[in-house]
Amino acid sequence: MKFNYLKFEKKERIGILTFTRPDALNALNENVFKELSDFLDADFTQSIRVLVLTGAGKAFVAGADIKAFQTYSSQNAYEFAELGKLLFDRIANLDIPVIAAINGFALGGGLELALACDIRIASERTKLGLPEVNLGLIPGFNGTQRLSRQIGAGNAMYIMMQGEGISALEAYQLGVVQKLVPPGEVLSSAIQLAEKIASKSPRSLSLIKEMVGKGMEMSLKDAGEMESRAFGNLFKEDQKERIEGVTAFLEKRQPNWE
Ligand code: HXC
Repeated sequence: MKFNYLKFEKKERIGILTFTRPDALNALNENVFKELSDFLDADFTQSIRVLVLTGAGKAFVAGADIKAFQTYSSQNAYEFAELGKLLFDRIANLDIPVIAAINGFALGGGLELALACDIRIASERTKLGLPEVNLGLIPGFNGTQRLSRQIGAGNAMYIMMQGEGISALEAYQLGVVQKLVPPGEVLSSAIQLAEKIASKSPRSLSLIKEMVGKGMEMSLKDAGEMESRAFGNLFKEDQKERIEGVTAFLEKRQPNWE
């Protein structure tokens, strides 16, 4: 598939999707979203175990394209917000793990994209934030919701209301990112983590995603019941990965998930 604003490559079981609009710090507009939609339509998850998202140049993604906002009607803005939500939800709901390799600025829609990923690794020198308050706007790709669910309302309000963006260290301390690495090592660290994850049971990984994702929207009691049912289902006779994982442990060998 040929893209102008995205690049997809495979390193064995790891897929790397790079946003490649560096002149605009990879800002998201309708053309980028069209390509992202086409990319997600192609059934790429069959051939990889983990997806890594990153950005070309000095940004991960510096947000939605502010220049395009100049011509937006209220309806256009609503539809753009809905389209971004739909695409980011599709990323969040992929049944393989997704890692954001935050090589540079992750601002506004860029941080919202990273928040739709399962794990975030960032350069220790970069800046993250939801700076929409400087534009008389609010986050529109679910940032108000995903950030507060992930790090709590007070921390999310702090980031959104002060609007200047926070250092990678502060983002790490607040739990926005899970790992900090020196600049230049972001992608390689993300790939290293992806390889480790890719060696684990794909069935377990996809169920963990499902439990955490769905559970966030449920009561603890109902989510616990869902978890018990999923755990029980793993003991059905056709659950090859559970059989292989437990047998491999008892036989003192590495499991083979193929
Ligand atoms: C369009 C952008 C852009 C953006 C940067 N550029 N961010 N264009 N939309 N979000 C463009 C600049 O205009 C400039 O183009 C080029 O990229 C390089 O950027 P500079 O500003 O020259 O770089 P630098 O001085 O290093 O500053 C980096 C920066 C700054 C701090 C990241 O660019 C910045 O503040 N960008 C805006 C970040 C932001 O507010 N994001 C939230 C957007 S609202 P030219 O042509 O001048 O060279 C949003 C809402 C999401 O995301 C929800 C929607 C529904």
